[in-house]
Amino acid sequence: MRAAVPDHGVVSPVEIPRPAPGPGQVLVEVRAAGMNRADLLHAKGRYGQRAFAGTTGPDVAGMELAGRVVAVGDGVDDQILGTRVMAMTARAYAEYAVVDERLLMAVPEELSWTDAAALPMALLTEYEAQVALARSVAGERVLVIGATSGVGLIGVQLARTIGPASLVATSRNTDVDALLQSLGAGTVAHTPDEVANASTEGYDVVIDHVGGDWLGTALAHLRNGARVVSVGRLGERTVQVDLTALAGKRASLIGTTWKTQELAQIADSVAGVREHVLPAVADGRIRPVVSGTLEFGDIAGGYQRLADGHSPGKLVVVVSRD
Ligand SMILES: NC(=O)c1ccc[n+]([C@@H]2O[C@H](COP(=O)([O-])OP(=O)(O)OC[C@H]3O[C@@H](n4cnc5c(N)ncnc54)[C@H](OP(=O)(O)O)[C@@H]3O)[C@@H](O)[C@H]2O)c1
Repeated sequence: MRAAVPDHGVVSPVEIPRPAPGPGQVLVEVRAAGMNRADLLHAKGRYGQRAFAGTTGPDVAGMELAGRVVAVGDGVDDQILGTRVMAMTARAYAEYAVVDERLLMAVPEELSWTDAAALPMALLTEYEAQVALARSVAGERVLVIGATSGVGLIGVQLARTIGPASLVATSRNTDVDALLQSLGAGTVAHTPDEVANASTEGYDVVIDHVGGDWLGTALAHLRNGARVVSVGRLGERTVQVDLTALAGKRASLIGTTWKTQELAQIADSVAGVREHVLPAVADGRIRPVVSGTLEFGDIAGGYQRLADGHSPGKLVVVVSRD
């Protein structure tokens, strides 16, 4: 089968043996795979060991996929054969991928392969941040920093489904305001100062994909009992924190990443997404935003587009067609 394996920073399809599912795993015939900023680090060998990387063999790139189950390992009910699934999983840029059954999510009928492949990483990341960690509830003042990132665009929509009192989203650009407002943002802030002014009463929940001054400003404008989740560091990875102010607000600053989580922990988040988030995908309240698609043979070009920056949304690799 063809699979994309990094070689000195360059990622292009090569021939490798097709993997076989082990106990508790399925084999997915991959139709499409979503691209993530973390792919760039992985290609350079700087992403680090992924606790959920699964099977041994060549270090195939890719972190999320959509496709059809074509084989099952021991202990997996074969009724799942032929179903359309999507998953956040290692080794996604391949014609076939072995996936732990616990990571599978059913693809809602309405979704194309391309749309489905754009979702798993973002659904899981934003569910974990907003629901599992921040415990966001209706009526709160919510801020999503870095809202035009692939994960942030789903974050804005998920926040809206929870029913916030106010929802502020950030981007450094003004030409994305209409998009962010169509997804549910009440206000778009374009600078840290605008973050401060956008909610004079402060924020209960902050989902941060950027760090640096943006996070610093948010930390200075929290409400009592606020929860701040650091999901990504698209900007600066350091920030000055006034610990006395944090204590006074009894606020929590929580960091998270997938790569140090064991499969069982990720499976808990998958179960949460299945129950609490997929219904909103199925009825259209949460929709994937795809900025472009490319053929598997052009995947090196996709890495270049990731590095250069692209219009808001996910880049998706079409691996095979029906
Ligand atoms: N916790 C986890 O396990 C987890 C999972 C997934 C992703 N992440 C992290 O979340 C972040 C987003 O990932 P992604 O793959 O969705 O990214 P992405 O789609 O590549 O993000 C692109 C966006 O980032 C914004 N951006 C880039 N550099 C910036 C800077 N210096 N300051 C402010 N904004 C900047 C740009 O927005 P504007 O031009 O509109 O400002 C751009 O639209 C990354 O840091 C990633 O590592 C973490």
